[in-house]
Amino acid sequence: MSTTTPRRSTALETLEFDHLELWVGNAKQAAHYYCTAFGFEPVAYAGPETGIRGRSSYVVRQNDLTLVLTSTLLADGPIADHVKRHGDGVRDVALRTSDARDAFRAAVAGGARPLAEPAETDDDDGRTVVARIATFGDTVHTLIERTRYRGAWLPGYRPLTATMPPARPVGLSRIDHCVGNVGWGEMDRWCDYYAQALGFTQLIGFDDKDISTEYTALRSKVMQSPSGKVKLPINEPAEGLRRSQIEEYLDFYGGPGIQHVAIATTDIVDTVLALRANGVELLETPDSYYETLGERVGAIEEDVAVLRELSILVDKDDKGYMLQIFTKPLQDRPTLFFEIIQRRGSLSFGKGNFKALFVSIEQEQAKRGNL
Ligand code: FE2
Repeated sequence: MSTTTPRRSTALETLEFDHLELWVGNAKQAAHYYCTAFGFEPVAYAGPETGIRGRSSYVVRQNDLTLVLTSTLLADGPIADHVKRHGDGVRDVALRTSDARDAFRAAVAGGARPLAEPAETDDDDGRTVVARIATFGDTVHTLIERTRYRGAWLPGYRPLTATMPPARPVGLSRIDHCVGNVGWGEMDRWCDYYAQALGFTQLIGFDDKDISTEYTALRSKVMQSPSGKVKLPINEPAEGLRRSQIEEYLDFYGGPGIQHVAIATTDIVDTVLALRANGVELLETPDSYYETLGERVGAIEEDVAVLRELSILVDKDDKGYMLQIFTKPLQDRPTLFFEIIQRRGSLSFGKGNFKALFVSIEQEQAKRGNL
């Protein structure tokens, strides 16, 4: 880590997750998938019918978690290039702030690469200010101020009343953390970037002794925003016997990007049952994991037999415990996936589960012939 003092700005202190924008090959179908499989509700739409040329964006929401799914209608341009290179993936981890102009000014003064100067837009429902900075790979952070906006989403959008089956929410509530994969030896540089540009500090670090199996290794540092509301672990590959899951991601994503988004629930058993009923594919956990669970985490409120049946993982720290499970990749490329997490006091990111989890991920990787 750099010794530079983290950047100070009132606007940066208010940063929190606003939404994720995915650039995808077919936003109409992706919106349907996230609604029917993950329980999101259609909220808003922008496209040719609303005066937006060349793209379609569908906004879907569940509690405090909002996804924007965007496709190009054209053969060329930034969205087409992004989808060709990366496949479907997270283009934008949008961060809400009380003052987008001030946040942008502070970030750029701290070394952030500016992509779009603050711009104010308005309609009958009020106004918003939006600016944009770059981060690793082709990923961006939109800085968004919407304190004076009362509409369903943003100016230029209309309510989305898609003909979809009634939403069946599965209890997903908000983003807990959002993880980036960067290239060999690049983790510290990007951690410094977040410290200097956005005032983030390091919460925890893991090295390859913590996170390794026979085949795969990685290093990770958890960076968090001044308020603690934005948690952003950054991973880099480390030397292992075979190609690690981080390398597999980098190969198929065509460089650094968002690896997984952890979504909080207040009842992981109910959420997992609902996701399974909707056909969501979740990673399985070797039975052997549960044989030593009691020794590792002590007494927990959940029935271990149920957790075993559903492949839910448990980890603990000195503040409590947490339960988590991971989906398989959300698209054909082995890139972006979701984590579902329920915290019962613990601030852990699942260090105690890394090994069990990676064995499971590697079984999938081997099936794809990429191990
Ligand atoms: Fe995670």
